[in-house]
Amino acid sequence: MNWLITGGCGFIGTALIRSLRDEGGHGIRVVDNLTVGDRDDLATATDFVEKGPEDLAPISQGGPVELVVGDILDEELALRAAEGADAIVHLAANTGVLPSVEDPRGDCRKNVFGTLNYLEAARHNGVGRFVFASSGGTVIGEVEPPIHEEMAPHPVAPYGASKLAGEGYCSAYFQTFDIGTVALRFGNVYGPLSGHKNSVVARFIRRATNGEALEIYGDGTQTRDYIYIGDLIRAIKLSVTTQGVGGETFQIATNAETTVREIADRLLPALAEAGVKDVEVRNTDARRGEVRRNFADTSKAKRLLGWQAEMDLDEGLRRTVEWFMHKES
Ligand SMILES: NC(=O)c1ccc[n+]([C@@H]2O[C@H](COP(=O)([O-])OP(=O)(O)OC[C@H]3O[C@@H](n4cnc5c(N)ncnc54)[C@H](O)[C@@H]3O)[C@@H](O)[C@H]2O)c1
Repeated sequence: MNWLITGGCGFIGTALIRSLRDEGGHGIRVVDNLTVGDRDDLATATDFVEKGPEDLAPISQGGPVELVVGDILDEELALRAAEGADAIVHLAANTGVLPSVEDPRGDCRKNVFGTLNYLEAARHNGVGRFVFASSGGTVIGEVEPPIHEEMAPHPVAPYGASKLAGEGYCSAYFQTFDIGTVALRFGNVYGPLSGHKNSVVARFIRRATNGEALEIYGDGTQTRDYIYIGDLIRAIKLSVTTQGVGGETFQIATNAETTVREIADRLLPALAEAGVKDVEVRNTDARRGEVRRNFADTSKAKRLLGWQAEMDLDEGLRRTVEWFMHKES
């Protein structure tokens, strides 16, 4: 298959590309503005060639992975980059609650107009599949978990609102233009290749290995659903290859509710095993825009995609610590 992956230099993008390269037989093009992920990150996943927008031919299998440095707000680039794609996996975005609270308009531009540009690119290039990276807890908001696809969304942060808008456009492009859009609401993703992430697991490991205390925002009883990157990549691939799921939204998480305090407690033995000992854990001020409790019912993904998370949390954390210690390619 031919894949166009926006944000392909980031955490999830590089993991997806690594997995597709291991499989072989895929054509892959990346569009990324390198504000977060960079060329070195992509190089840990694959060899690649860099192309200017004017040099682009339709994506083809057998060629090298192509990196196009550009912004998802560039409509013309989106139209050209999608030529020859069988699937678009749209990962590039503002990816955090905090930046969206600081700059709601910027978050809206990237997450709404950026998404619209690639839906338009799918429509004008006859691309059959479009996977949208959404976010479970932030879209649904402050409700009694487990969250599921039939719940009415009440986003708390602008980030949740912009992701919800993206889901809305995905639904519309399926209903009106027959593009096989699939919105995946990810839980809190962790794992190897997350070196630059500011999510709980990556931040804790980075701080511990730098000899700093693990800082828990608030009292540590807030909960999340932590999903291992390998499980998530399987879900993305199944969303592209499974027939009859156009227009659908799926929670991609583990069904397990874990407090931040518990993540810290479970990380300590994995860190100790890797030689990082005597790690201090302390509480700091709570942050605005965060939901208190979140975990997801993933039975719809099991039913329609034949997918469920498999990685045990302790083993996933151990592998993540291991990767951070050695950052092996
Ligand atoms: N990691 C998680 O826990 C998580 C959870 C829920 C949803 N998501 C969503 O999954 C997607 C990927 O997340 P990630 O963790 O890989 O993030 P990431 O920040 O590691 O990667 C995003 C990539 O997109 C690029 N990018 C950002 N803005 C861009 C723009 N305007 N134009 C072109 N490229 C741009 C960045 O340079 C980066 O390489 C995002 O849409 C995010 O909102 C992630």
